[in-house]
Amino acid sequence: MALRLGDTAPDFTVDTTEGRISFHQYLGNGWGVLFSHPKDFTPVCTTELGRVAKLKPEFEKRNVKVIGLSVDPVDSHSKWAADIHETQGVKLNFPVIADADRKVSDLYDMIHPNANDTLTVRSVFVIGPDKKVKLTLTYPASTGRNFDELLRVIDSLQLTAQHRVATPADWKRGEDVIITTAVTNDEANKLFPGFKTLKPYLRYTKQP
Ligand code: BEZ
Repeated sequence: MALRLGDTAPDFTVDTTEGRISFHQYLGNGWGVLFSHPKDFTPVCTTELGRVAKLKPEFEKRNVKVIGLSVDPVDSHSKWAADIHETQGVKLNFPVIADADRKVSDLYDMIHPNANDTLTVRSVFVIGPDKKVKLTLTYPASTGRNFDELLRVIDSLQLTAQHRVATPADWKRGEDVIITTAVTNDEANKLFPGFKTLKPYLRYTKQP
């Protein structure tokens, strides 16, 4: 069965471009992003891995470790890394899993046979410090992901894990947030002084 939000992210030990990695150990006490791409030496995937490599400092600022995956072997990943460097202007700076035996792809349900019975779809799993799945995304092979959106979501996940707030549509870091309905007005007065009430269920406050 597919992984659902709140499930424990399955652990595994695999070969990657940075050697053998045990997933939970690799994540340590921080956050993680596990993302699959369909195949090495393909155009959209090349741009995606380049983009993630460029954004590595942004993931690091958020205490997030990234790890990619495809069903190709390590030597293929390593040769492809040279193309990523040449065409995207950045070195591959995070591990990419070689999942030739599909062990991880199967654990995470990354192969959708009605789309393609051998290649992984573009899956994303955001995993919290408690090793629970906080977010899943699935894109088809034809559509490259928006990794700025992934950072935006991580900002929301990390904020809402710390404070009793939720983030509205299109929210970005620094903008006002919503006080969750579980917070009474008395509590809100203490926690979020000066909050604004548009409706009893829709109360805004500055980002804590
Ligand atoms: C791509 O990355 O461009 C791609 C990969 C697999 C199938 C189709 C496109």
